[in-house]
Amino acid sequence: MPYMRIGVSRERAPRERRVAVVPATVRIYREWAWDVTVEPGAGTAAGILDADYQAAEAVSGDPRGADCRLIVGPPSLEEVAALEAGSLLIGHLDPFVRPDLVAALRDGGVTALAVEAIPRTTLAQSMDALSSQATVGGYAAVLAAAAEAPRFMPMLVTAAGTIPPSRVLVLGAGVAGLQAIATAKRLGAIVFGYDIREDTREQVESLGAKFVAAPTEGADDGGYAREVSADTQERQLDILAPYVAESDIVITTAQIPGRPAPRLVSREMVESMSAGSVIVDMAAGTGGNVEGSVADDAVTIGGVTVLGPTNLASHVAADASRMYSRNLQELLARMRSDEGLDVDLDDEIVGGATITHGGEIVHPQAKDRR
Ligand code: NAI
Repeated sequence: MPYMRIGVSRERAPRERRVAVVPATVRIYREWAWDVTVEPGAGTAAGILDADYQAAEAVSGDPRGADCRLIVGPPSLEEVAALEAGSLLIGHLDPFVRPDLVAALRDGGVTALAVEAIPRTTLAQSMDALSSQATVGGYAAVLAAAAEAPRFMPMLVTAAGTIPPSRVLVLGAGVAGLQAIATAKRLGAIVFGYDIREDTREQVESLGAKFVAAPTEGADDGGYAREVSADTQERQLDILAPYVAESDIVITTAQIPGRPAPRLVSREMVESMSAGSVIVDMAAGTGGNVEGSVADDAVTIGGVTVLGPTNLASHVAADASRMYSRNLQELLARMRSDEGLDVDLDDEIVGGATITHGGEIVHPQAKDRR
């Protein structure tokens, strides 16, 4: 098998604690007879020391000049400018919302694969970084809410009295929402879940949560939710309102790919909750499910704390990195060929994830966004 040089950088975005490659994956690349260069300090925030990488036979040094750079991302324009023409870059690239980044990758002659564009199919499941990181995010959202809340999650029967369990409402039951439901259940809360996609009812109930009887619809061909009509949205809010009012914690995760996040909680609904209640709006970075939420900030509305974290996976950096590293390893295993790494545009997964190649934007959806 031909020789490849993999480069792993220290992530530079604020609040980013993850790293794209963990030592277990370095060992696999070494088994493939590849070299791995890891920038000093790359794993520190995820609890991985430079010595841990060295023990896995990675070289500590400057990752520039590698054949393939693996990142968590998205990179800054400066970082993209420093990449070499003809090199490969794989990571989060925000390809459908950052035309400037995509154009810079094209102009730099970089072959860029975005994990956001990996098809959400059964075949691609082991490479699906959106799912692995959403799983971490859903878990971390519940812990963030529990840490902020002034109440216990489980029911406690003690000599000092009986404490009732918290009521948790999770809106949007995709990958993150289902993990949030499972986590809140494990902590002993009474959990309610809701999603516009009818298919999720069974999944929510199988986790022991109650499904809120608001409107549901079928998914699109890709299994995703569609944007709902104004009329449906109004009915959703009417039915959700009393559930929100009675919840101690609300976690919102609803997203529509390529569209602003749907509004599911109005300001009035936030104000109807008891003081001390907590809302975590996981969609705050794409417009927000909750009126008044602010991306990467905490605000208080009528005594209710509203959190808008945009990188919850980073809160559980070690395991998030471990899962992400494995996703990339599986993708590289698929690309591995006699020539090194084969960017086969006809392959449904590799081709589906490729954004720029040969000085062109090759992904149709990324082209449309220019
Ligand atoms: P997402 O992050 O795009 O959205 C989160 C959730 O918000 C979705 O469940 C969506 O239905 C819901 N939502 C959107 N608009 C809403 C509204 N107005 N009201 C209430 N809920 C609303 O979705 P995610 O979690 O990335 O994936 C969603 C689905 O995609 C999965 O549940 C699955 O069906 C499919 N998928 C399939 C995979 C596979 O086959 N391997 C892997 C990953 C996802």
